[in-house]
Amino acid sequence: MIDLNVSVPGGSYPVMIEAGLFPQIGERLKDIHGGRHGLVVFDDKVRPLHGQSLMEGFSSEWNMQAVDLEASEASKRLETVGGLLDDCLVAGLDRGGLIAAVGGGITGDVAGFVAASYMRGISLVQIPTTLLAMVDASVGGKTGVNLPLPDGGGIGKNLAGAFWQPEAVLMDPLVLKTLDQRELRCGLGECIKHAMIADPSMLDLIESDRVGILAAEPDCLERLIHQAVQIKISVIENDERESGVRASLNLGHTFAHAIEPIGSLDLRHGEAVAIGLVAAATCALELGMIEVDRVDRMRSIIELVGLPSRLSSPIPAAQLIQTMRFDKKAHDGQLRLVLPDSNGVSIHDDVPMDVVQRAWEVVGAV
Ligand SMILES: NC(=O)c1ccc[n+]([C@@H]2O[C@H](COP(=O)([O-])OP(=O)(O)OC[C@H]3O[C@@H](n4cnc5c(N)ncnc54)[C@H](O)[C@@H]3O)[C@@H](O)[C@H]2O)c1
Repeated sequence: MIDLNVSVPGGSYPVMIEAGLFPQIGERLKDIHGGRHGLVVFDDKVRPLHGQSLMEGFSSEWNMQAVDLEASEASKRLETVGGLLDDCLVAGLDRGGLIAAVGGGITGDVAGFVAASYMRGISLVQIPTTLLAMVDASVGGKTGVNLPLPDGGGIGKNLAGAFWQPEAVLMDPLVLKTLDQRELRCGLGECIKHAMIADPSMLDLIESDRVGILAAEPDCLERLIHQAVQIKISVIENDERESGVRASLNLGHTFAHAIEPIGSLDLRHGEAVAIGLVAAATCALELGMIEVDRVDRMRSIIELVGLPSRLSSPIPAAQLIQTMRFDKKAHDGQLRLVLPDSNGVSIHDDVPMDVVQRAWEVVGAV
C-alpha cells in the first residue's frame, strides 16, 4: 500500500493507494471517522460495477445509506446539490455524519460541496474511481458546481463551491479496469499538466508506461498515481486556498473551461485540458517564456497517448475569449493566465489579447 499524507492548515489527512482496497474501505474508515452513520453518494455507473463490494465492507456497526448521482457536467449544478441535501436529511445525518463520494471528479466535486454545506459542514471521504479524480480532483479540497452564465452564455465551470478538505482519500487502481480508454486518457491529460508544472520526468513515465496504463495494469497505474498525487500534494501543501502557487494547477484550465461546455465539440474535461495546455504553451512560446522543444515534447506526448491537441471544429476565438472572462481567476474583466515557463509555471494578468487570440487559432479556432 502507498500511504501519503496531506498537511493543510487545521489538520492533515491520509491518501491511500492500494490495489484491492475497495472491499476493505469500511474497515479502514473505522480508524479514520469517529461516527458510524453516513451517506454514500455513488456515481450511478459505478454503483452497479463496484458498489456491492464497497457496501459489504461496512460491518453491521455502520449505518450507511446510498444514493446515486448521474455524472455529467449538466447535472453538476445547484439543483443536484439541493436534492442531495434533502437526501442527507432523509437519511437522518447529524453533524457527526459522513459523506462518502464514490465516483469521478463530478461526483467528488458535487458530493464534496454537499458535505461542505450540510449543517455548515460534515465529514467527507473521497473514493475516486476515475484516473482523473485519483491524480487530481479528489486531493486538495476543491468542491463545487457549475453555474449558467448570463444571457444564455452557456455554463460557467465550477463558479459556486467551497474549499472542503476530506478526512481521507482512498484509491483502488483495480476499479479503473472498468473505465473506458477515453477516460483513462483524460486522466493522463491532468498528469501531463502535473509534469509541466513540477516534474518533467512524469512525461518520460507516461511515454514508457503508456501501453500498460491504457490497459489499466495495476502496477503501471499505481506508479503513475503515486507520482502524480505527490506532485499535487506538494503544490496544495504550500497554498491550500489558491492565493499563490496553487493557481499553477490551473495550467491550461482557463482555456479548457471555455471549450469544455461547448456541446458540438464533445470534449471531456481531460481532453479540454490537453487542448488548453497546448494553447497556454503557445502563448508562453510567443512571449518568449519557454523553449520550443518543451512545447513540442508536451504536444507529442499528448498526441502519443491519443489526446486531442486541436479543436475538432472551428469555433470563433472571440466567443472563447468572451467565455474566458467568466473564469474564476479573472479580475476586473482582465484574464489571469497560468503559463509554462523555464521554472515550471507562472501567473500573468497582462497577456495581450492578440496573443491569446493567436493561441486559440493555433489549436483550431478562427
Ligand atoms: N476538485 C478539483 O480539484 C478538480 C480537479 C480536476 C477536475 N475536476 C472536475 O472533475 C470533473 C471531471 O472528472 P472525471 O474526468 O473523473 O469525470 P466524471 O466524474 O464525469 O467521470 C467520467 C465518466 O466515467 C464514469 N466512471 C467513473 N468511474 C468509473 C469506473 N470505475 N468504471 C467505469 N466508469 C466509470 C462516470 O460515470 C462518467 O461517465 C470535471 O467536472 C472537473 O471540473 C475537479
